[in-house]
Amino acid sequence: MVPDETRSFFAASATLGTVEPYPGQHVAMPDPALVVLIGPSGSGKSTWAAARYLPREIVSSDELRGIVGSGPHDLDASDDAFSLLDQIVGARSGRGLTTIIDTLGLDPARRSVYLGQARKARLPAVAVVFDTDAVACRERNRARDRPVPAAVLNAQLRKMREVVAELAAEGWDLVVQAEGGAQPVRVHQQSPESARSQEPAQARSEPGRLDFILHISRFAWGEDPAGWLKAMAAAAANAGFRGIALMDHLIQIPQVDRAWEPIPEPLVTLGMLAGLESGLRLGTLVTPVTFRAPGVLAKAMATLDVLSGGRAFCGMGAGWWDREHAAFGLSFPSARDRLDNLETAIETVRALWLPGTKAYRGERVQLPETTCYPRPLSPIPIIVGGSGERRTLQIVARLADGCNLPADIDVLDAKLAVLREHCAKVSRDMTDIEITVLDIPVIGRNREHTAQIVERLRGRVSAAAFARRHHAGLAADHVTRYRQLAERGVGTVFVALPDLAGPEDLARLAPVIAAVS
Ligand code: CTP
Ligand code: MG
Repeated sequence: MVPDETRSFFAASATLGTVEPYPGQHVAMPDPALVVLIGPSGSGKSTWAAARYLPREIVSSDELRGIVGSGPHDLDASDDAFSLLDQIVGARSGRGLTTIIDTLGLDPARRSVYLGQARKARLPAVAVVFDTDAVACRERNRARDRPVPAAVLNAQLRKMREVVAELAAEGWDLVVQAEGGAQPVRVHQQSPESARSQEPAQARSEPGRLDFILHISRFAWGEDPAGWLKAMAAAAANAGFRGIALMDHLIQIPQVDRAWEPIPEPLVTLGMLAGLESGLRLGTLVTPVTFRAPGVLAKAMATLDVLSGGRAFCGMGAGWWDREHAAFGLSFPSARDRLDNLETAIETVRALWLPGTKAYRGERVQLPETTCYPRPLSPIPIIVGGSGERRTLQIVARLADGCNLPADIDVLDAKLAVLREHCAKVSRDMTDIEITVLDIPVIGRNREHTAQIVERLRGRVSAAAFARRHHAGLAADHVTRYRQLAERGVGTVFVALPDLAGPEDLARLAPVIAAVS
């Protein structure tokens, strides 16, 4: 993750929740955001908010009047209601949580308070203007139990005529118009950067295509490990995944789960998956070179390739977790030595996968013979994991078939720029390198489900930070993000669902994969 202070104000990784109130049309709304509704009584503000946001995300002056006063229409309670409203907005936005301010929004002085709160919380400030037809507002108002007096509504309607001009001068990051019953349209947008990031998905140039590989890092297989794995492979193929990658660790890592949760030896496990007629590519993401002598890894991977009919790929990395090495009696050399070992290992496995048995004399590796049978059906791609800019990406440029980088767009852009430089130095055509990312997305069925997953998994991380880190959102949000990855030259996304429990969870990925692969 990039530290918050180095992020652009309008965090590029903020989910752009596409709201689709009217079939086939949508305006991308930044999320999290501070959203201020602006419109006369009866213009449809509360209805709009309720259709898009969770009740706890909407702070309504009417409701607060009902809490501190005798009811929603107790105007004498307005001062108390608004001071409470400011406090709630400050507290929520201070935690980076999306907050919808459901008031008339017609008073510039109050709007400037909300803008200040958004700035302080470094949240995008969005104004939603309800320019609903005056006749409709009057009709809806008359139909209410307690209509606003006609003169009051007329004054509000008059004020509305000035609002759009006022908003343009106030500094909102985004102003959208939500005409009653009509498609919300963008009125204006503040910064060119946010303008770029919020283009509706369909307005973008035809995006590239992505392959998706399911990355399994937690194994909630209960009493039936083999059955769970088989069902997982079937569900992955059904959902459109092109492969399965297994994490290679000796102890479950703290980023994923508790140390005593099962984490199977991946090459044995992939051997079982190879026996299924799934058509899925199979490999590790990634195998630390500290675990197995490179020659033994070459032998195991060649065997996997043969047993699976040529579907193996080999993720390799330098290893990073001292604890698992100590626990299993493995040595854990310095970072520099581990990276040297990574180079040696790549050279060794490649030598042993070559046809023939002749002696190998390479830069770092000398072997008296290269008798390794079975040989892979075709060259097994080596994907180097890790994004250390000085050594790892240089190793990628010189030796790897692919790399595995973080999926966060800002970070990815920086890493790709470094990789490009390394490639130029060694005259490697960067388009020969398969760019892959590891993505750990929270994908909810709806807004409430998304929030539930975040709340369940966030641990001590704040909900907003966890949501941002995992790009929490709906399928459509992830489609938009994956297209951005494809535009940057990413070819494969390894997807690890942080809430993966069983095969049924993979169905949520199916529409995403269908849209982008
Ligand atoms: N309504 C509608 N069609 C819409 C939006 C709203 O028929 N597209 C109706 C609602 O069902 C409601 C009335 O219009 O009965 C007023 O909508 P509401 O969302 O309550 O308007 P607000 O702008 O929130 O009004 P107020 O400022 O008085 O809270
Ligand atoms: Mg309302």
